[in-house]
Amino acid sequence: MRLILLGAPGAGKGTQATFIKEKFNIPQISTGDMLRAAVKAGTPLGIAAKKVMDAGGLVSDDIIIGLVKDRLKQADCANGYLFDGFPRTIPQADAMKEAGVSIDYVLEIDVPDSAIIERMSGRRVHLSSGRTYHAKFNPPKVAGKDDVTGEDLIQRDDDKEETVKKRLSVYHEQTEVLVNYYGDWAKAGLPGAPKYRKIAGVGPVEQIRDSAFAALEA
Ligand code: AP5
Ligand code: ZN
Repeated sequence: MRLILLGAPGAGKGTQATFIKEKFNIPQISTGDMLRAAVKAGTPLGIAAKKVMDAGGLVSDDIIIGLVKDRLKQADCANGYLFDGFPRTIPQADAMKEAGVSIDYVLEIDVPDSAIIERMSGRRVHLSSGRTYHAKFNPPKVAGKDDVTGEDLIQRDDDKEETVKKRLSVYHEQTEVLVNYYGDWAKAGLPGAPKYRKIAGVGPVEQIRDSAFAALEA
């Protein structure tokens, strides 16, 4: 299984990725998680990326495309992969097409902007695994601790309301065009075209998981 999860900031891409990667036994390639790891490690990339991320902007296409191409060379991608938060611009999508990176499904998770701010303000993350919780909608077993490791959960620096609003506008300006990019490609049914599936992303996490699994079987 090779798929792209498409959706606004806070649509639940990371949350649903946890279920999908387990079901299909594939790695989750989250460019956001990769960048946050670089920030934490204090690498030159991390230092440069942090400024952009905290402002709610996008890291440059060249850097992101390089990161993903390197990641795809690793052995665990042989069985498939799940892209989370990538591609995010037309040049990123074109780069994958040109490199012949196969995609079976594009799964769009649809959540209105009005639901996003509350989701982000309650989000808590386990940094090293990317596991994601919400204080109200998807709480960990022990408050403030990761279910698997028991380690501390953090709040992301870019989850401040002003930054979330900026990220949403960047999504509408630069990423939402990929809905038609992949949708039209799928409709044209050309060789190599992925199947395009859209699911509603509002409701209990498990209900959305079931819709995602059904969409990926259809
Ligand atoms: P990234 O980490 O990719 O952030 P994002 O796309 O903005 O998405 P989020 O991680 O915020 O949301 P999500 O859809 O994963 O939702 P989640 O499951 O966590 O990118 C961060 C930054 O890195 C970017 O702004 C950019 O600067 C840079 N970057 C990354 N990739 C890039 C790229 N390709 N090119 C350029 N720059 C890039 O859920 C959110 C919350 O809601 C959680 O608390 C969760 O528990 C809760 N929740 C989930 N499902 C539900 C539900 N059904 N009901 C209620 N609450 C729910
Ligand atoms: Zn995420």
